[in-house]
Amino acid sequence: MPVLRSVFIALSKNRMLRGLSERSVVGRRMSSRFVAGMEISDALRAAEAVNQQGMAVTLDSLGESVTSEMEAHQGAGIYHQLLDAIAEKKLNANISVKLTQMGLELSPKLAETIAKSLAEHASRLDNFVRIDMEDSSLTQATLDIVRRLHARPDLRGAIGIVIQAYLYRSEADIEQLAADGIRVRLCKGAYKEPVEVAFARKRDVDANYIRLAEILLESPIYHGLATHDEAMIAAAKSFAARQGIEPKHFEFQMLYGVRRDLQRNLVREGYNVRVYIPFGREWYPYFMRRLAERPANAVFLAKNFFRA
Ligand code: FDA
Repeated sequence: MPVLRSVFIALSKNRMLRGLSERSVVGRRMSSRFVAGMEISDALRAAEAVNQQGMAVTLDSLGESVTSEMEAHQGAGIYHQLLDAIAEKKLNANISVKLTQMGLELSPKLAETIAKSLAEHASRLDNFVRIDMEDSSLTQATLDIVRRLHARPDLRGAIGIVIQAYLYRSEADIEQLAADGIRVRLCKGAYKEPVEVAFARKRDVDANYIRLAEILLESPIYHGLATHDEAMIAAAKSFAARQGIEPKHFEFQMLYGVRRDLQRNLVREGYNVRVYIPFGREWYPYFMRRLAERPANAVFLAKNFFRA
């Protein structure tokens, strides 16, 4: 399986395949398993439906690694529209943003300026911007930007970050973020990382996930535990129960289209659940990372596709 994971992650970076797939009808049809649609209206409709099932939402306008300042501003424009639409429709939703979509690889200053204006907009509407975490070459720059913005009194509580349990550095980062009072989403990590920076074995990643989840659960801030792994969820629940931490003190987060049964069960048990809803035309890298996490998805999708 690790070989297939590497293959899908390598494919996720292939520009030619990306262009071909994103334009093809077949590709779009395949991607609809994990992507809510191509337009803002599709995302808002999906968010409404998820809210009706008692779950919160975070919206991701797909796109990453832009190559011009204009593209970065266009990407930000969609998020500004989303923040207004969420307020107007009174949705229980916030936004998830990748800094490389906001130009981080072109200029960290550009990405910070854009993230600042999104956080200011969110703060005015009493909403929140989650900055997704990308590969380890960007971890420090992402942390620096989020910590600088969060240190501004007007943006306190309006911006948060993601930490990946597979990175060795994450425990120290989480201690620092908890001290700063910054909201964290903890995930395992979706990129291919060298052994110099990340645990290679699933069992080490899982053990670290549980260790970090416990630190977050004990902090006074409202954090998110993003996983579909039943063992991680059970460990978090039992730690919270042992420590007398109320279920409403934190939330579980899962991806749109993944383990809907688990999402519903958690809601029924009284836990907060947030669903990450991606939408947009640039779905290819996101889709490939989902196949990397569970290569069996590729077989499942192919079977259903040819059956339909
Ligand atoms: P793991 O991969 O061990 O899977 C456990 C079980 O979950 C599998 O056996 C399977 O049953 C199920 N499962 C997992 N993935 C599935 C899939 N794609 N399809 C079907 N079933 C699946 N990563 C990152 O690097 N930066 C980020 O900002 C984010 N953001 C983020 C937000 C949210 C809300 C989630 C849920 C995840 C992320 N991730 C992420 C992705 C994350 O790092 C990780 O790659 C996936 O969540 C898969 O890891 P699990 O914790 O689910 O466990």
